[in-house]
Amino acid sequence: STFHSFLQQLPKCEHHMHLEGSLSPEVLFTLAKRNNITLPQDDPAFQSPETLLARYDRFTSLDDFLHYYYIGMSVLISDSDFEDLAMDYFRHAAADGVAHAEVFFDPQAHIERGISYNTVLTGFSAARARAQKEFGITSELICCFLRHLPVPNCVSMFKDADVQASFKNGSVTGIGLDSSEKPFPPALFEEIYAGAKELGLRRTAHAGEEGPSTFISDSLDILKVERIDHGIRLIEDDALLQKIAKDGTMLSVCPLSNVLLRCVKEVKEVPIRKFLDAGVKFSINSDDPAYFGGYILDNYCAVHEAFDLSVAEWTSICRAGIEGSWCSQARKDEML
Ligand code: HPA
Ligand code: ZN
Repeated sequence: STFHSFLQQLPKCEHHMHLEGSLSPEVLFTLAKRNNITLPQDDPAFQSPETLLARYDRFTSLDDFLHYYYIGMSVLISDSDFEDLAMDYFRHAAADGVAHAEVFFDPQAHIERGISYNTVLTGFSAARARAQKEFGITSELICCFLRHLPVPNCVSMFKDADVQASFKNGSVTGIGLDSSEKPFPPALFEEIYAGAKELGLRRTAHAGEEGPSTFISDSLDILKVERIDHGIRLIEDDALLQKIAKDGTMLSVCPLSNVLLRCVKEVKEVPIRKFLDAGVKFSINSDDPAYFGGYILDNYCAVHEAFDLSVAEWTSICRAGIEGSWCSQARKDEML
């Protein structure tokens, strides 16, 4: 329809997608074969790409998804595997009309399997350069800490020489916090976030996806984050919602993810209208597009179907996305 092409052409900024979440079942099986990785024999979902994709429709929770997400990424071995993975994302992003993407990656999940940080970074950096050249898409990398791992493990990754080098030479722009939320409060990561602030890194954290709204306030107060990833449970605390609106803190909302992981029953339940009415800034994002049945434009379309937003509302959502991005002012001016 014409609205679909209007949404496609908007200068979209993506602030919440995990590069490992763009691994399709097709590519997963191809890489498993090429890299001699044995997929779980005892789970019938791993019979074929088709059975795996069908299993993704029946995720019961964030942890149920993460089980498949971590098995999936175990097929990634060489820097060119990481480059190909990221190019798969950037190709979809280009087709969907993404102008600028700030993408997460999960180095600890690879380091734990014996893949070096620099292997991952080399592959992703090559893809970023190609995406800019081939599609005109600018991007930033956000290094995530896995909150289900022991805190000392996270601290030692933060202090690792290669990781510090990537922070200081600008190849990584910011840090994030992801994986299982509920038993792992933000305060556990205070030391890492203080260190990141000291280095001048940008800071965000997943909060209020499955976890309570206090994880949102603690991420702001204790971790001093500049953005909140998901944040849909903000609606449980009206005073906090008013504060976030007043401060202009951005939420990176992921509607299809919220439905697939059963944080909400349907897209209509994502508090888009409440955020618009309260003046809370947010972007709309794909999270793990190969797992949740859609890239960014599918998320825009699903939101449009659920909320019937006006042209003016869509324009202001995209403008807020540009202004809330972590690129240079010159790049923002180009997109505006
Ligand atoms: N939440 C937490 N961790 C994640 C997610 C998510 O939506 N996607 C990939 N890792
Ligand atoms: Zn996420």
